[in-house]
Amino acid sequence: MAIKKKTIRSSQGMPGEKVRILIPRQRIHRRIQELAKQIRADFPEEPLLLVGVLKGAVFFLSDLARGIPGEVSLDFIAVSSYGKDTRSSGQVRLTKDLDASIEGRTVIVVEDILDTGMTLQYLLRILEQRKPKHLRVAVLLDKPERRIASVHAEYVGFSIPNEFVVGFGLDYAERYRNLQGVGVLILRPPDKANKPGD
Ligand code: IMP
Ligand code: MG
Repeated sequence: MAIKKKTIRSSQGMPGEKVRILIPRQRIHRRIQELAKQIRADFPEEPLLLVGVLKGAVFFLSDLARGIPGEVSLDFIAVSSYGKDTRSSGQVRLTKDLDASIEGRTVIVVEDILDTGMTLQYLLRILEQRKPKHLRVAVLLDKPERRIASVHAEYVGFSIPNEFVVGFGLDYAERYRNLQGVGVLILRPPDKANKPGD
């Protein structure tokens, strides 16, 4: 789905930071409802288990789950991707595992953004070993230009350019997750780091 650029929104009180809104909340909500319908159409009879990747996926997951009719359960998993550095180390570590077995279940992994793909590649490898009946991926955002690992998401909200975004769950140093839309973070003076925060 194509994206139009919008106005600059003020920062969360941090000097030198601005956010240019890229996807307003109404568009996000509409798109999530479409994805929810598509998921149910693909699995009309199945109980679904949505596995949210903490913390970035929480708002996406909560809207998606409520948009899918029929039986839906939730579980959460957490990974740490980049340690303290602002750039990807390429190393992913599980910091919180699921509460229950996924064997024989229809699982949709719900993630905020597919960037290099290292996180989802790692997670899918772990989850595949646990023998789910189906394993699918839903991401709110996709930055295809940044892909290193070959990971495919069946359900993609929006493809976006290679810019660092915040809001609707996505953070910069744990801030901005509560922005209602998704915006591009503008740092002044420009920060050369490509991926600040996790
Ligand atoms: P990947 O492993 O490179 O695909 O990165 C996935 C994780 O990196 C996401 O779950 C986010 O936490 C983080 N990330 C990647 N790009 C962005 C961004 O533009 N804004 C905020 N977080 C990002
Ligand atoms: Mg994340």
